[in-house]
Amino acid sequence: MNKATRKAIIAGNWKMNMTPSEATAAVKKTAELVAGKDGCEIVLCVPFVDIAAAVEAAKGTNVKIGAQNVHFEAKGAFTGEISASMLTECGVEYVIIGHSERRQYFGETDETVNKRTKAALAAGLKVLLCLGEVKEERLAGITDEIVAMQTKLDLAGISAEDMKNVIIAYEPVWAIGTGLTATPEQADETCGVIRATIAKLYGAEVAEATTIQYGGSMNDANAAELLSKYNVDGGLIGGASLVPEKFDAIVTAAN
Ligand code: 13P
Repeated sequence: MNKATRKAIIAGNWKMNMTPSEATAAVKKTAELVAGKDGCEIVLCVPFVDIAAAVEAAKGTNVKIGAQNVHFEAKGAFTGEISASMLTECGVEYVIIGHSERRQYFGETDETVNKRTKAALAAGLKVLLCLGEVKEERLAGITDEIVAMQTKLDLAGISAEDMKNVIIAYEPVWAIGTGLTATPEQADETCGVIRATIAKLYGAEVAEATTIQYGGSMNDANAAELLSKYNVDGGLIGGASLVPEKFDAIVTAAN
């Protein structure tokens, strides 16, 4: 396995945007534009209430639907939470776990990220596992240590076999929604640190087979250069995924 044989994944993270009717229109438009662009896997991660509409609109297309979080327990008294089996029964194939906005605003920790990842994998979901350093950590020169630590904690107890269903999304927090993008060199280098950490945990073969995305102000103008880097196997796209034409341009760059 190497960049040429690893599965590239372009995923949109709609965050808290789009009502169900807006989701139907946006998924249909996106699917129309990306039809036949099968050089990468294409995923849209939508709000929970949009899942039914999005799955219906994506039927028969090459667009897969993902969720933006999942709880680690199977069922019970967890008001406001959603279980992995609820997602799979609704036709969800992917789930984002550990997004920096969940860590920052909703108290997610590496421990809960790890538990959610295990529950999602056990239910047959593919996990887009987000990690990345904050600005102060990059300025302090400890980015490599931070992403290595997050990689180890978030993947604790997850088997090499399960790694086939884990995608890492490297999202430097300072680049999310700010218009600041990591340079292609920074993205490549830090995705490389994550890959080296996976190699330490699982061996070189698993590390070379793992898809590692970059996320943080990726758009139609900068995607091609970021995606050309050896360790960058795709993108997790926020703002630009809300505009089907922009998202399609990123998919085209990945193809
Ligand atoms: P932006 O592309 O809007 O910076 O968001 C990135 C992100 O957080 C994707 O999960």
